[in-house]
Amino acid sequence: MTARTLDGQKIRDQIFAELSDEVRLLTAAGVRPGLAAVLVGENPASQLYVKSKIAACQQLGLSSALLTPPATVSTLHLLAVVEDLNRDNDVDGILVQLPLPPQVDTKRILEAVDPAKDVDGFHPVNLGRLVSGRPGLVACTPAGCMEILRRNDIKIEGANAVVLGRSDIVGKPMALLLMHANATVTICHSKTRGLPDLLRRADIIVAAMGKAGYLEADWIKPGAAVIDVGTNRITDHKEAERLFHGFPDRLEKFRAKGSALVGDVHPGAVNIAGALTPVPGGVGPTTIAMLMSNTVKAARLRRASPKFSATQSTTSAR
Ligand code: GUN
Repeated sequence: MTARTLDGQKIRDQIFAELSDEVRLLTAAGVRPGLAAVLVGENPASQLYVKSKIAACQQLGLSSALLTPPATVSTLHLLAVVEDLNRDNDVDGILVQLPLPPQVDTKRILEAVDPAKDVDGFHPVNLGRLVSGRPGLVACTPAGCMEILRRNDIKIEGANAVVLGRSDIVGKPMALLLMHANATVTICHSKTRGLPDLLRRADIIVAAMGKAGYLEADWIKPGAAVIDVGTNRITDHKEAERLFHGFPDRLEKFRAKGSALVGDVHPGAVNIAGALTPVPGGVGPTTIAMLMSNTVKAARLRRASPKFSATQSTTSAR
């Protein structure tokens, strides 16, 4: 049996169609939602990500601004950049692309973002709201994974879900979202013992540990839904042979190009899982869709309640 493809592009298109109606209504009422992206230095992967986020704003009719401080920027200078954006009434969403250079105190920067404009959902206030099940802005990648599950009618309630990876950005919020949707959640990481047996009990697996093809196909329960958050570029021929054994077309493409994108799940999972996100074209597009959704939501909430922003600012950890 071949796994059903969980097409992230299709879901992104659905969400964009829903949002474009809302953007039209807001814009007609004189409120054009706006996103400001802060891209520090010249990391090619970050440049690519931010470019697609700005392109999404343009496609939806949101205003966007791109700030590009140099890689040598100090924490204090970056704090000043964020403060300016906090005060700018035309900016509804602030996104500081990660990773930041080593001299910058990343946590301090993320805590400086006004929680009402925190469209990445990284601020401790928004994380706290997620923990306690109160409305707030939720991190885009885990929120996108939930959309993939829900819009494909994958039953979450009562399911055994395993989240592989415990990052602040994906693993932890993902586990909370699944728990709030009444799944029984196990969080696994590099020190977990007996991982294959834990995974074999899972109806839903979310793989987010950032290791190319780490999750072997025979660790998956036949028919399970597998969400692959990883995006890893491989260049090693031996690794390509391990991963693309049984996929001659992909191996051929790798040989021609010298590299390939693979997820955290071994491609052989397609023969065991019941449903699987492709890489690329699975989680990535839904992450961008949720960023747009958060920006529109932030614009709506800030205008609906002018106090929303100010109140949240005073409670932010500064
Ligand atoms: N770097 C990797 N993923 C993300 C993300 O979702 N948001 C930001 N700001 N940076 C990232």
